[in-house]
Amino acid sequence: MTTHSNKGTALITGASSGIGAIYADRLARDGYDLILVARSADKLRDVAHDITRRRERSVETIAADLTRHEDLVRIADVLRTDASITVLINNAGMGATAPMLDSDIAQMSALITLNVHAPTHLALAAAPAFVARGTGSIVNIASIVALAPDLLNGVYGASKAFVLALSQSLHHELAGKGIRVQAVLPGATATDFWSAAGTPVEHLPQDIVMSAEHVVDAALAGLQQGETVTIPSLPDLADWETLDQARKALGPNLSRSRPASRYGLAA
Ligand SMILES: NC(=O)c1ccc[n+]([C@@H]2O[C@H](COP(=O)([O-])OP(=O)(O)OC[C@H]3O[C@@H](n4cnc5c(N)ncnc54)[C@H](OP(=O)(O)O)[C@@H]3O)[C@@H](O)[C@H]2O)c1
Repeated sequence: MTTHSNKGTALITGASSGIGAIYADRLARDGYDLILVARSADKLRDVAHDITRRRERSVETIAADLTRHEDLVRIADVLRTDASITVLINNAGMGATAPMLDSDIAQMSALITLNVHAPTHLALAAAPAFVARGTGSIVNIASIVALAPDLLNGVYGASKAFVLALSQSLHHELAGKGIRVQAVLPGATATDFWSAAGTPVEHLPQDIVMSAEHVVDAALAGLQQGETVTIPSLPDLADWETLDQARKALGPNLSRSRPASRYGLAA
C-alpha cells in the first residue's frame, strides 16, 4: 500500500538508469512521492516496481523523449499543474568523448537539445510554479567538465558549463523567494553514460570513478548543507570557494567605459 507524502513529489528526468534511478530510490526513502521520466517505458516500470515494493511510496512514470518539443512541453505542463511537486531533478543527459573535430554535428545538436534546452525549459516551468507554491528545489546535474572544458568532448563540456551558469543565476534570482537551487558536478561515475558516449567506464582509471550511489548520497548531503554547487569528489570545499571568489572579484572591472590600457587605445 502507498501513502501520499507530506514532503510532496519529486519529478526526476533520466530516472530509468544510473544517477537518476538512484535519486529515485533515495528520494522515495526520504519520503517523497515520485514522477519518473525517461524514454524507455519498460526500464522506468522496472525502477518504479522496485521502489514501490521497497519504499511504499506513490511512483508514476512518464515515457518522454526530452529532445522532442511535444514531450518536453508535456513534462513542463506537469511541473506547472501538479501542485504536489516540490522537487525537480534535471538529470537526463548524454555525453560524448570524441574530439570536436571528429564530431557529428547532428549528434552535437541533439546533445545540446537534451543537456541545455530541456533542463532550461523544465527549470523555467518549475521556478514560477515553485514560487507560487512557496517552496521547491531545483537540482541540475551538471558535471566537473563545466570547470574543465578541455576534458572530454568540448560541446559536452560547454553544455555542462551552461547548466552550472544557469543554476548560479537561478540561485541568485530565487534564493530570496525560498526556492533552493543546486548544481551537482559529478566526476566520472560508473553508469551506462560512458558506453553510450563511446568509452566504456571500464577503460577509465578506476581511482577516478565513483559509484552513482556515492554521487547521489553526497549530492543530497550537499543540498542538506545548503550548497549551491556540489562537487562530490572535491576534498576541500575551500578550493571551490577560492575559484568562486576570484570570479566575483572580477566583477567591478568587467564592464567599464574604456578599453584596458594594454590595448594601447587609452584616451
Ligand atoms: N556518468 C558520468 O560519468 C557522469 C559524470 C558527470 C555528469 N553526468 C551526468 O549525469 C546525468 C545522468 O547520467 P548517468 O551517468 O546516470 O547516465 P545514464 O545511466 O546513461 O542515464 C541517462 C538517463 O537519461 C535518460 N535519457 C537519455 N536521453 C534521453 C532523452 N532524449 N529524453 C529523456 N531521457 C533521456 C536515459 O533514459 P532513456 O535512455 O530511457 O531515455 C537515462 O535514464 C547526465 O546529465 C550526465 O551528463 C554523468
